[in-house]
Amino acid sequence: MNKIIVGNWKMSPNSVKETENLLKEISLISKKSKNIDIIACPPFPFLPFGKKITSFHIGAQNVSEEIDAANTGDVSTKMLKSLNISHVIVGHSERRKKGDTNSMINRKIAGILKEKMFPILCVGESVRDTNGEYLIFIKSQIHECLAQIPKAQIKNIIIAYEPIWAIGSQSQRVATTEEFVEIRIFIKKVLSDMYDIKTANSVPILYGGSVHPDNSKSFIDSGADGLLVGRDSLSAKKFGEIINSIKQHEINQRNREYYK
Ligand code: PGA
Repeated sequence: MNKIIVGNWKMSPNSVKETENLLKEISLISKKSKNIDIIACPPFPFLPFGKKITSFHIGAQNVSEEIDAANTGDVSTKMLKSLNISHVIVGHSERRKKGDTNSMINRKIAGILKEKMFPILCVGESVRDTNGEYLIFIKSQIHECLAQIPKAQIKNIIIAYEPIWAIGSQSQRVATTEEFVEIRIFIKKVLSDMYDIKTANSVPILYGGSVHPDNSKSFIDSGADGLLVGRDSLSAKKFGEIINSIKQHEINQRNREYYK
């Protein structure tokens, strides 16, 4: 499975010009990164600028849970599909803070899948307690967000583990690779109990939260199927360095195979 790198631009940049420049720079990077799935997620008004892009994917940062309704300010899955959007981030903690519940996210996922796009489901706790409450919290996020989603569709879902305490410039710290590995195994176990091992193994598990060029490779080395990058996805230089670190991981893997 190709490694996946998602750039979550959040509410940036502020202009069409900057958007066009950033997309152009990512295009150059992506042409040199054949076996990596790059997904850039600009804000809604700039999504049409991605329509001509073929060397990487354009994702959205949110979508309405309604299929067809009189909802001022909302954007539907059909609109995204008609713009060639391939992926949609759902359940990001910044949207959950604004009121998105697991049941709303569940409806969004069903709508995204119906339009044959890929949901990127974010899960993660706000605190790491010492008695494992965070595991119960993540388990219920997965159970409720994937409720009634047919087994055959699960392979089209990407899960990003984003501990809230590791996200953004105000974050306490980045997660350790050990913390990520624990959650990766835990998510696979939850999915395997809900469906089966084969289905659980078909779901890529990404890490997100203060990913930078100096720590990106360590997450990939410890088994992450990819990364969800916020701040550093707005700098083509840093985003490129993160992608290069994934390439370095692949080269090391190949060399290891060679010397076996
Ligand atoms: P960050 O954001 O990389 O700036 O911490 C990650 C995210 O919120 O998706």
